[in-house]
Amino acid sequence: MDSFLIHGGNRLKGRVEISGSKNSALPILAATLMAEGRTRLHGVPRLSDIDSMIKLLGELGCHVHRHEPDPAAKQSDGPVLNGPLDIEVQDERKSEARYEIVKTMRASICVLGPILAKRGEAVIALPGGCAIGDRPVDLHVRGLQKLGAEFRLENGNICGKVHGRLKGCRMYLGGAQGPTVLGTVNVMCAATLAEGETVLVGAACEPEVVDCAELLIKMGAQIKGHGTPEIRIEGVDKLHEAEHRIIPDRIECGTFMIAAAITNGELELKHCNLDHLIAVQDRLEEVGVKLSRENGTIFVASARRLNPVEMTTQPYPGFPTDLQAQLMALLCLGDGISVITERVFPDRFLHVGELNRMGARVRKEGATAVVQGVKELQGATVMASDLRASAALVLAALAAKGTTRIDRVYHIDRGYEKIEQKLRAVGADIERIKEP
Ligand code: EPZ
Repeated sequence: MDSFLIHGGNRLKGRVEISGSKNSALPILAATLMAEGRTRLHGVPRLSDIDSMIKLLGELGCHVHRHEPDPAAKQSDGPVLNGPLDIEVQDERKSEARYEIVKTMRASICVLGPILAKRGEAVIALPGGCAIGDRPVDLHVRGLQKLGAEFRLENGNICGKVHGRLKGCRMYLGGAQGPTVLGTVNVMCAATLAEGETVLVGAACEPEVVDCAELLIKMGAQIKGHGTPEIRIEGVDKLHEAEHRIIPDRIECGTFMIAAAITNGELELKHCNLDHLIAVQDRLEEVGVKLSRENGTIFVASARRLNPVEMTTQPYPGFPTDLQAQLMALLCLGDGISVITERVFPDRFLHVGELNRMGARVRKEGATAVVQGVKELQGATVMASDLRASAALVLAALAAKGTTRIDRVYHIDRGYEKIEQKLRAVGADIERIKEP
């Protein structure tokens, strides 16, 4: 298990290339299971979660090949860190996602809809609990049941079967905490191959859902209303090959915005879409961060004084839960009391204890955290607990006085491509200590 050693206090300055979105790429990779022929994807980041999904696709009979980056590729098209990824289904006999893969990557659940629709049966290990909360998959299962799939739980696996073809219908997909992102994608994927029309009411509107719909449309699916709470899908007989570029990672982008803000720095973030971060822009501007954009580049600069704010996480277009921990790290240095409420994953606060070890003053009350800003944070040894909590610790360490050691950074490797190289290139003092 590698660690990061970060000597805080450097102002970050320079340019960062934002990678393709992990949370878009994962369900999109699962959707390629439904295509006849090859799917070519550009901008798929190199991350351990992506490696797990590629492994799963391999076990499900796909041939996956990553090309070398093309030195002649145009910078303006998107990040050129990685070459395109080709996926082609070659064998449809195996329809099982084993627990060994699912336990390392919950997004494995995304293959459920695609393989049920295409192969008529699926066995997926039921994902267990997770550091950020309960994370049930009941809405995925209920949506697919409404399309006609039958399910039973057997030895920790969800076993699904379709007799004949799935049948489109009108359904409500929301749950107690609002819409479900991967649940929406799962049911939307399955509905593309169902008979007749499906209407998903209460669908998630996240840009990652829209990106998956755009790929499916390129494959021949008939989808309307993606990006709104009502998605209409007219089923087709089959989906064909397609080529697609994954959208920029809005969470990586937001994390680097906060990195600029917390170090009183100035960053130029390339290949981003500020429209996907409207609520984040709103809160950061309230804090006092200066943001501007030119084409696909965002310029971030921050004053030394950080205003305290109130923030509630919400489904898109609200403030994303995946940036809650990072904003908290910033507000720890705010000039007053901030209040953060988590409405998507009410238990997602494992970073609070670690930030407090660094001198922060955060008090949790139910799904709310009250952050009393302090003058400075101090370096300490802390432990990464989940992906975004770890990112928050990196941000706090960049601003802290002294040296911070962050253990278990494999969590960060799940979701931030080349994070230490990107941070070092703009002036951070960060090194990875490899565990022998
Ligand atoms: C996606 O998870 C993301 N993961 C998460 O990012 C992100 O935090 C989350 O959406 C919310 O934006 C990927 O895209 C791979 P949900 P997902 O279903 O789809 C409840 C990261 O750090 N719910 O939208 O699994 C659920 O408990 C990760 O990159 C049910 O009750 O999240 C939560 O309270 C972590 N039943 C709410 O809905 C269900 O069947 C929203 O979760 C499904 C969800």
